[in-house]
Amino acid sequence: METEIILVDKNVKKEETYSQAVEILRNEGLVAFPTETVYGLGADATNPQAVEKIFEAKGRPADNPLIVHVDSKESALDWVQNVPEKALQCMDAFWPGALTLIMKSKPDAFAANVTAGLSTVGIRVPNHPVALNLLRRVKLPIAAPSANTSGKPSPTRAEHVYHDMEGVIPLILDGGATAIGIESTVLDMTCEPPVILRPGNITKEDLEQVIGTVRLSSDIQGNAPKSPGMKYMHYAPEAPVYLIENNQALVEKAIEHVQKDGKKVAVLSTAEFPLADYYFRLSAETLYDSLRKCDRTDVDLILATVSPAPKRNVAMMNRLEKAADHKWFS
Ligand code: TXA
Ligand code: MG
Repeated sequence: METEIILVDKNVKKEETYSQAVEILRNEGLVAFPTETVYGLGADATNPQAVEKIFEAKGRPADNPLIVHVDSKESALDWVQNVPEKALQCMDAFWPGALTLIMKSKPDAFAANVTAGLSTVGIRVPNHPVALNLLRRVKLPIAAPSANTSGKPSPTRAEHVYHDMEGVIPLILDGGATAIGIESTVLDMTCEPPVILRPGNITKEDLEQVIGTVRLSSDIQGNAPKSPGMKYMHYAPEAPVYLIENNQALVEKAIEHVQKDGKKVAVLSTAEFPLADYYFRLSAETLYDSLRKCDRTDVDLILATVSPAPKRNVAMMNRLEKAADHKWFS
């Protein structure tokens, strides 16, 4: 299969491009599109054959449910039932935006493989003009996980999608680099108080200003993984990633130690380390891009420096810890 990558915004053939994308989605095909968080790999969420193609393209385990994207709160309400007042408040406050709400879905609303057989579904309205234009035109709920091969860093640029999906999907809508760079906050509205299953750019504090107490799933003891995807290895580049305290002397010693064995080291940090073979700037917006850039080098080991995390960085630290599989350099 030939994979087309089309720049959408400044394209004179913009309408033609959207029509092409709509046509593919309505005929059980996959289209990758930008959102404000990461690029999504979209399929018609009501069609099990279409959804199956997402799992095949990504190599994604079938017990990991997908997030459904719609164009508005009104569209979302067509697909869910027993919606709590707090969920409506979140929709009004944060949609369109990087917040996925887990709610009870209407019976037989979605293909069973979207929800991994659960009675609940994760829905969001993305805050990106290309995603919204596409959703408005296609008039279908679109299941879309991040458009990467399962286990790899999520794509924040169309080139990342192309790297993973070339020859596998027919069309990538290119909307440039995504603004936020990490996946949406996932908030479970089926319990009280609501629980954050995956931290994101919309923080616990942001949510609490609107709906009061919210719990973090990582704070709940003996908690079975309620967000099934969270148990899998994620976001990992090819070379092993190690966390290290953001202390200049310590990091420099570590670099020298690795290089002494004839190995190449990359440092991901907020401050530059000229001693390292490669240096990439660390921020939520650039994390996945930096991890993918490491894959294009001959690096043997990646050091990621960790500073006491300001609240906005909780989500980035969560992804970095997963990329490192929680290993610390010692
Ligand atoms: O920012 C995002 O959310 C991106 C963009 C493309 O919108 N999408 C994304 O989707 O990250 P995905 O499929 O890679 O992440 C889905 C996450 C998983 O952690 C999954 O376990 C959780 O959402 N999830 C989905 N449905 C769920 C449900 N019914 N109950 C609990 N967790 C659910
Ligand atoms: Mg993902």
